Amino acid sequence: MSAPDTVLAERFSSAFANALGQEFAETDAVLRPSGRPDFGYFQANFAMGLAKTLGKNPREVAQLVLDAVDLQGVADHAEVAGPGFINITLSTDFVSRCATEQLNDDRHGVPATSKSQRIVIDYSQPNIAKEMHVGHVRSTVIGDSLARLFEFLGHNVIRQNHLGDWGTPYGMIIEQFLDDGAQAMAGSIDAVTALYRRASARYKTDEEFAARASKRVVSLQAHEPETIELWNTLYALSLVHIEEMYQRLGVTLTREHIAGESSYDDDLPVLIEELRSLGLAVEQAGALCVFVPGMTNREGEPLPVIVQKSDGGYLYATTDLATVRHRVRALKADRALYVVDSRQSDHFVGVFAVARLAHWIPDNVEFRHVAFGTMLGPGRTPLKTRSGEVFSLEALLDEAEDRALAVVQEKSPDLDAEEQRRRAHIVGIGAIKFADLVNQRTTDYVFDWDRMLALQGKTAPYLQYAHARIRSLLRTANEQGINVDAVAINITERQEHDLALALLRFPRAISEVEATLEPHHLCMYLFELAQSFTAFYEACPVFKAPDDVRDSRLRLAESTSRVLKQGLVLLGIDAPEQL
Ligand code: ARG
Repeated sequence: MSAPDTVLAERFSSAFANALGQEFAETDAVLRPSGRPDFGYFQANFAMGLAKTLGKNPREVAQLVLDAVDLQGVADHAEVAGPGFINITLSTDFVSRCATEQLNDDRHGVPATSKSQRIVIDYSQPNIAKEMHVGHVRSTVIGDSLARLFEFLGHNVIRQNHLGDWGTPYGMIIEQFLDDGAQAMAGSIDAVTALYRRASARYKTDEEFAARASKRVVSLQAHEPETIELWNTLYALSLVHIEEMYQRLGVTLTREHIAGESSYDDDLPVLIEELRSLGLAVEQAGALCVFVPGMTNREGEPLPVIVQKSDGGYLYATTDLATVRHRVRALKADRALYVVDSRQSDHFVGVFAVARLAHWIPDNVEFRHVAFGTMLGPGRTPLKTRSGEVFSLEALLDEAEDRALAVVQEKSPDLDAEEQRRRAHIVGIGAIKFADLVNQRTTDYVFDWDRMLALQGKTAPYLQYAHARIRSLLRTANEQGINVDAVAINITERQEHDLALALLRFPRAISEVEATLEPHHLCMYLFELAQSFTAFYEACPVFKAPDDVRDSRLRLAESTSRVLKQGLVLLGIDAPEQL
């Protein structure tokens, strides 16, 4: 299907060639909805840049192009405006036609990519032997949304869950486990978490215990069978918990996506040897370091990436160097995105720089840290529960669903309790995800229960209820025997025109997320779409209108519900038929 911007771009492209003898470059940069509430304005904004090159004044350039452009069948009117824009009033017929085409397109006007890539996305990454906590929300939710979006665009997405499952803590936990006896774990993550707490407290004060724990790490790393078996027990218990959380959150991660730190164990000595033989790794105070040209600390002194400790142990950076190798060599990545807290920026700068020095990343492969800010509690302090503890993820989800239940009960007091619970789950989880994704990725944000569950504003409940209301409207039509399956959209009113244009901006919102890796753009878009629908619905009666007008309006409503739903699905948020 052809979106208005594509058609306009084509028309302007030939006008450029004819009038100026210039290629029309970066179409997206110059053609955009003007954001004016007027009837269907698009704005072409190119003359300013070109004027300099051509030695003409921008309005003059704009006028030359306008004289040459053929807007037949596309625009009713176009004029030079301001310092050198061209304002374009799209014709209603043209917008109707584009909107109808979009409605008949399974992809809602979003083209599938012509260059399908293998995109590795590293996200969620909890540590085993501990409950998941609020700190895991952002990576999980942002990563899952990006994974869904790139898949929708036709890329081959390879999810990688880099579980923290190896190293020092596990020696300590295993020793504590042996001391406390098997009942200490009692088959649940709570018991494991308690065990972890006891172990870390003791590790600090009890020297004998600390020594045993260190020995245990050595036997873990030597894959000593008894130790591995104990580790496996911990691992299995943790996995049950992690999968339960994913299930509740509705994220697409499964067992097959797990590639934890332990899975890179064998490659660590190999890659260290390679770094040595390439002459990149040098010893400093016993540790093995790679110096990256230009990488310095605040004092301007060279800052090494340490890849092996003096006791022979490996570090977080070493394991991530192994992820790079695996993702390039085994997974054949064209792109690799690491969705990780921005506080780890230096780590990734170092890792990717070392990997490039070692030529482990081919020039045409992109490795990128997709950083995000911190989720904060009121007063911009770390988010705590009422009793002042760090929120476990489970407690956070419980509270979200409890609070959402109050919203659902108010909206639908007559439903039975079980159905209310079911809906509270959808609303509560949706609210958490949207409240996270709506923020600019790299900024810190303050978590606010009331705001995220509000029925008005930039929230999941607002969009979910908007979607459900439209579906209910369409059901009513259906019950009245109105069948609009073959009806084309035929715009008569200004608000219909605005809504149609809002719908037709969907592909642009998707490409913005694609270009910036910021699901935030999609959140804002969906909010604006829902608002356009409200304005339309207030101004344009459906069932009271003459049949043909009614039918076209039902089709606009249907298109809105489809785009809303698709958008929410790409954010990982459920959009039920009824709410
Ligand atoms: N488990 C790590 C942490 O809790 C995050 C892992 C991020 N992914 C990576 N490849 N380093 O900080």
